[in-house]
Amino acid sequence: MPQLAFIGAGKMASAIVGGVLNKGIYQPSAIACLCGGDGTGADLAKRTGITHIPSAEKLLNKGQIVVLACKPQQINELPPELKDLTEGSLILSILAGVRLKKLQTTFPKARNIVRCMPNTPGQIGAGVTAYAPLSPLTHEDTQAIEGILSSLGVFMAVEEHHLDAVTAVSGSGPAYLFEFTLAFKAAAIAAGLPENIADTLVRETIIGSAKLMESSSQSPVELRNSVTSKGGTTEAALKTFAEHQGNLHSLVSHAVLSAKNRSIELAK
Ligand SMILES: NC(=O)c1ccc[n+]([C@@H]2O[C@H](COP(=O)([O-])OP(=O)(O)OC[C@H]3O[C@@H](n4cnc5c(N)ncnc54)[C@H](OP(=O)(O)O)[C@@H]3O)[C@@H](O)[C@H]2O)c1
Repeated sequence: MPQLAFIGAGKMASAIVGGVLNKGIYQPSAIACLCGGDGTGADLAKRTGITHIPSAEKLLNKGQIVVLACKPQQINELPPELKDLTEGSLILSILAGVRLKKLQTTFPKARNIVRCMPNTPGQIGAGVTAYAPLSPLTHEDTQAIEGILSSLGVFMAVEEHHLDAVTAVSGSGPAYLFEFTLAFKAAAIAAGLPENIADTLVRETIIGSAKLMESSSQSPVELRNSVTSKGGTTEAALKTFAEHQGNLHSLVSHAVLSAKNRSIELAK
């Protein structure tokens, strides 16, 4: 029986499997997965050397760590025998919007349940994940959970009630940056640049600025100010961000609140 069992073998499960194998936290022989009917489990096994086990009975044993990585709506289609098969297990759920209370009814015999919110940069180990346990974690279980989450990037423990806001910030956040990239590129083209030049300039500006923010000890305000000279071009653009109807700060704030409210609604 594997030490680490995945229920679901899609994009996020693949990211975690890849990460824990790369970091040497588990060997392929210690990991197995179960999927639905689309063959993702066999594909993941082929790519990584883990085992694909088509039946929950053969996948699960008492006391294992089980990563729940199907789609949120698929939780209601999971085999009912999971209730007994996860007796004594530590469950790590990555399902967006599925509350610990609901997870507890699905896995009533688990020794503990952890709900987390990863994000897509986790696929390259550059993600940020917040997690909340149902009951305080033992030292050993904390190490196991944080070991797995470290494979996706940075992690932090939060209270469960913060997870709707976390979803709106880091869960959905990559899309905000991609949307900004699109708007920035369209603006570059409108400013007269050919498409390929606009594309490279915008991408590299965003990637380079993120790397500078990562490596610098300066705050974002200081980094912004260091590009902005009095009466210069950057100041002219920043004035427009601040003055325009529905300025950038209030626009971003509204967008994040919309995502948080949607997360609350979806969890009902
Ligand atoms: N992608 C993100 O950025 C992101 C960020 C944060 C959280 N999440 C969460 O991560 C979870 C997975 O997302 P994803 O993008 O990895 O989805 P995905 O690629 O669609 O993967 C879903 C997996 O669940 C499997 N599955 C479906 N029904 C099943 C069943 N009854 N028993 C066992 N496995 C079953 C699917 O198998 P088959 O397809 O082979 O049937 C597939 O391997 C979601 O709950 C999402 O909320 C995702």
